[in-house]
Amino acid sequence: MKSIGKRTAALFFAALCAIAPAAPAQPRIVIKFSHVVAPDTPKGKAAEFFARRAEDLTRGAVKVEVYANSILYKDKDEMEALQLGVVQMLAPSLSKLTPLGLKEFEVFDLPYIFDTTALLHKVTQGPIGESLLAKLEAKGIKGMAFWDNGLKSFSANSPLLTPADFNGLKMRIQPSKVLESQMRALGALPHVTAFSDVSRALQTGIVDGTENPHSNFYTQRMHEVQKHITLTRHGYLGYVVIFNKRFWGNLPSRIRAQLEQAMREATVYANRIAAEENDNALARIRETGMTRIHEPTPAELAEFKKALLKTHREMAARIGKEIIDAIYRDTGFDPDKM
Ligand code: LMR
Repeated sequence: MKSIGKRTAALFFAALCAIAPAAPAQPRIVIKFSHVVAPDTPKGKAAEFFARRAEDLTRGAVKVEVYANSILYKDKDEMEALQLGVVQMLAPSLSKLTPLGLKEFEVFDLPYIFDTTALLHKVTQGPIGESLLAKLEAKGIKGMAFWDNGLKSFSANSPLLTPADFNGLKMRIQPSKVLESQMRALGALPHVTAFSDVSRALQTGIVDGTENPHSNFYTQRMHEVQKHITLTRHGYLGYVVIFNKRFWGNLPSRIRAQLEQAMREATVYANRIAAEENDNALARIRETGMTRIHEPTPAELAEFKKALLKTHREMAARIGKEIIDAIYRDTGFDPDKM
């Protein structure tokens, strides 16, 4: 067959491509990321940040669909959905792993255990954090990172100036035995409620008060149903970012490496914005003028710490003396000086 010129061959090939059906593109990998807070919170913003970076770094091979504000699943249901693989990613509060039987995570609920964010990060970003993430594997969960929210303050519809003011109050908590012990140490009655139901429970009087970082308090409009907040900053609320382990293991290794990079960047972002987001939320609460904000005096704070210290002693056996002592050692925390 007479050889045809190169140009003709190129034109012929171009024509073929134009009419041949495009090879089916690789199906996109879809990650459903469900969470229970508003989009304009540290976790909400970090989830969106991760979604953008995951799509960028995988050049569109992965699409992350973020479902905020419990629109897909509420507290308890979301963990079940992850373990069934109905959703692939969550970022539950560290106080919500108890139903999985992972009591060690409740160490983060101990009142006043972290004096500074730097000391907290020594734990979450060090060997203790690594060992906790590893414990998730046995539950079919791949633990990726810890994200901050912030320190919690108590709120109610009556002033909360001393522990005695909590006597008999029904106080909403997350499903953590340490938080139960904390409320009982104040003479309050702990009441576990899903986060999506808290504002309504406060409005209808099912509970009298609760505890939140300021960003959750404000974005759930709790200033409309809580007349008083005392800036006790008594406890830490943070998150563990997790994948369904089987889903994660089935991803191509290149995709896993790109998602790990997106997670590293999202963790730096989350922890960078958390404090500012909570400070801004407190300013917004103040502007509403609907909730009276009380800054405890040093004497009042000392009284709260004295009352809450018993939680450390009471919960040591449950959480595990080893992890508590490791955190005390790593952070220089001395419960007797609390
Ligand atoms: C709560 O239930 O109070 C928090 O865990 C909500 C959240 O995810 O910050």
